[in-house]
Amino acid sequence: MPAVVLVGAQWGDEGKGKATDLLGSRVDYVVKFNGGNNAGHTVVIGDEKYALHLLPSGILSPGVVPVIGNGVVVDIDVLFEELDDLIARGVDVSRLLVSSQAHVIAGYHRTLDKVTERFLGKRRIGTTGRGIGPAYADKINRVGIRIADLFDPKILREKVEGSLDQKNHLLVKVYNRRAVDIDATVDELLAHAERLRPMVANTPLVLNQALDEGKNVLFEAGQATMLDIDHGTYPFVTSSSATAGGAVTGSGIGPTRVDSVIGVIKAYTTRVGEGPFPTELFDDMGEYLLKTGGEYGVTTGRARRCGWYDSVIARYASRINGLTDLVVTKLDVLTGLEKVPVCVAYDVDGTRYDEMPDDQSAFHHATPIYEEMPGWWEDISGARTIEDLPANAQAYLARLEELSGCRISAVGVGPRRDEIIPVHDLIHARA
Ligand code: IMP
Repeated sequence: MPAVVLVGAQWGDEGKGKATDLLGSRVDYVVKFNGGNNAGHTVVIGDEKYALHLLPSGILSPGVVPVIGNGVVVDIDVLFEELDDLIARGVDVSRLLVSSQAHVIAGYHRTLDKVTERFLGKRRIGTTGRGIGPAYADKINRVGIRIADLFDPKILREKVEGSLDQKNHLLVKVYNRRAVDIDATVDELLAHAERLRPMVANTPLVLNQALDEGKNVLFEAGQATMLDIDHGTYPFVTSSSATAGGAVTGSGIGPTRVDSVIGVIKAYTTRVGEGPFPTELFDDMGEYLLKTGGEYGVTTGRARRCGWYDSVIARYASRINGLTDLVVTKLDVLTGLEKVPVCVAYDVDGTRYDEMPDDQSAFHHATPIYEEMPGWWEDISGARTIEDLPANAQAYLARLEELSGCRISAVGVGPRRDEIIPVHDLIHARA
């Protein structure tokens, strides 16, 4: 102990790296427990910039054991591309552990992701096209391929055959595509097996033992609360459990082991892909947040949709994840505004909603009820305590804390690693 869970509180890209930087060298293990290479985080160390999609951020920290948990879907080609890139840049990647029970993204998952999106037309999800949804669908459908299967060619072939049985009918008869070749698929998957073997471990056992020994284990979510398969804006979500509960099922530790749950939230809101977004801005202010915040996706390069802070979502994320700490990022992007609106509730056809509507049509029709906070003009990137901030920035944060249902434990004031205000220690025993 302690086990620290880190989740995104909005639609992703909140800047979880700010929180991991604060935890720094005190973390012994970093576990990715959901998603796959649909995620994207940029880590800047000195003059070097690293864009990671599949690997846990801990891969860059000497002494940390990075773990790909059982809840992850692994594209093995991408895994080795990312590892080779890091090796070429002198990073020691030898500590990486991969769960034998994690599922594999095969070529046919990527193919299906793209053709189904095209087929959906106007109803498309706007996926990253990395095969995430189809790989999780196979897992739930019990026709998935797990990492452990790669070490038994006979079983692997049977499983690939079973998985492709229906898919090939679908590809040929519905999508007008060529059938996927079973032998070629098995060969592709086997190609990396020997290189992968030394990394494969019984990660639930390793992680429980680490906690028994008093190590600090960080469980880092991919994507975010509003993209969670159960609690997000379904169907415009990713296909995994991106909330705190996912840390437990996706890594094999019990819920009683979790000490703190950190939610990372931007001082405004962004979203990529399709789906409802009540505070979205379609005017110059949206353009301003996009440009000032540099809101372009790391994985797909897409411009993110931008809007004001939504405290209905913040309260929802606090509740669903049982947040103990909130890390607010990118406060500096709001510097220079006359007024900063904060959404405090929704109006749905004349009815006020203080909490997230349970009904998805209501959320689709929600219009934000704003409160306007006075802005500030001073450069805040040098602030290292809350008192260093202009009075209006302090008041903005105090109001967010009041509205969001969770204490603010750190505030990001600039893109650099040290441009952060620590307020409360993020590693603490359960209250
Ligand atoms: P998928 O995860 O590729 O299936 O995409 C499903 C939805 O989740 C799409 O709207 C994506 O844009 C979104 N998404 C997936 N990963 C991320 C992420 O790391 N940040 C933000 N949005 C994401």
